[in-house]
Amino acid sequence: MAMTDTRTIRIEAVRFNPETDQEPRRQSYDVPFTPDMSVLQGLQYIKDHLDGSLTFRWSCRMAVCGSCGMMINDTPKLSCETFLRDLYPGPVKVAPLDNFPIQRDLAIDQTGFLDKLAMIKPYIVAKQDKPLSEGTFRQTPAQLEAYYQYSQCINCLLCYAACPQFGLNDQFVGPAALSLLQRYNLDSRDVGWSVRADVANADIGVWECTVVGYCSEVCPKGVDPMHAINENKVNSALDYIGLKRLVGGR
Ligand code: SF4
Ligand code: FES
Repeated sequence: MAMTDTRTIRIEAVRFNPETDQEPRRQSYDVPFTPDMSVLQGLQYIKDHLDGSLTFRWSCRMAVCGSCGMMINDTPKLSCETFLRDLYPGPVKVAPLDNFPIQRDLAIDQTGFLDKLAMIKPYIVAKQDKPLSEGTFRQTPAQLEAYYQYSQCINCLLCYAACPQFGLNDQFVGPAALSLLQRYNLDSRDVGWSVRADVANADIGVWECTVVGYCSEVCPKGVDPMHAINENKVNSALDYIGLKRLVGGR
């Protein structure tokens, strides 16, 4: 990139060390950038050249790993696919994802989500095990299509930062975990409805959702958590009155 393409933008980052600080504060950095630089690359510039103590998560740099989610100008986004050129002249406000405890600076504590992920049993519960010698379980394209969008979740947690109900009650299982619950319930190889039903039907399950829908709006992978939750509200209600579930779940 030619140096003439370089401009400077101010990045205002939240700083917070829970071990030493009373409350979060903002720190400003002037960052030279070229048109191909993402917000994540701006933060990496800060870390490499201006302030090595700034803490944030990232891994893939290509919207796949889900590590780099943060609030960018008050909206939950992946920092690796948000470009500084689109935020010029700035300033660019970066903060940890809303609704989570801060671990350090822009990194959130994900423990609560990992517990919820374990609760929904995010794996195929097969009717019976099949020896490897018998080959793979087969699936038609239509059977794959039934759950495909939910399988695209990268656990970036932008949907939790967008969810006002999760903001009010951090026990709510929440959009991504409930989408993954439905991803497995819709899978033709799975018979795990009964082991997931308690989580779906609980007060902190689908019934905590008030159908705001911002989760589906901010998802960078086209997952529709609100739809997954609505499908499970239908299932949960039918189950309660003893009728057959309509949308997935064996
Ligand atoms: S549903 Fe979308 S926004 Fe939520 S964690 Fe998965 S990929 Fe991220
Ligand atoms: S660094 Fe992996 S999703 Fe952004």
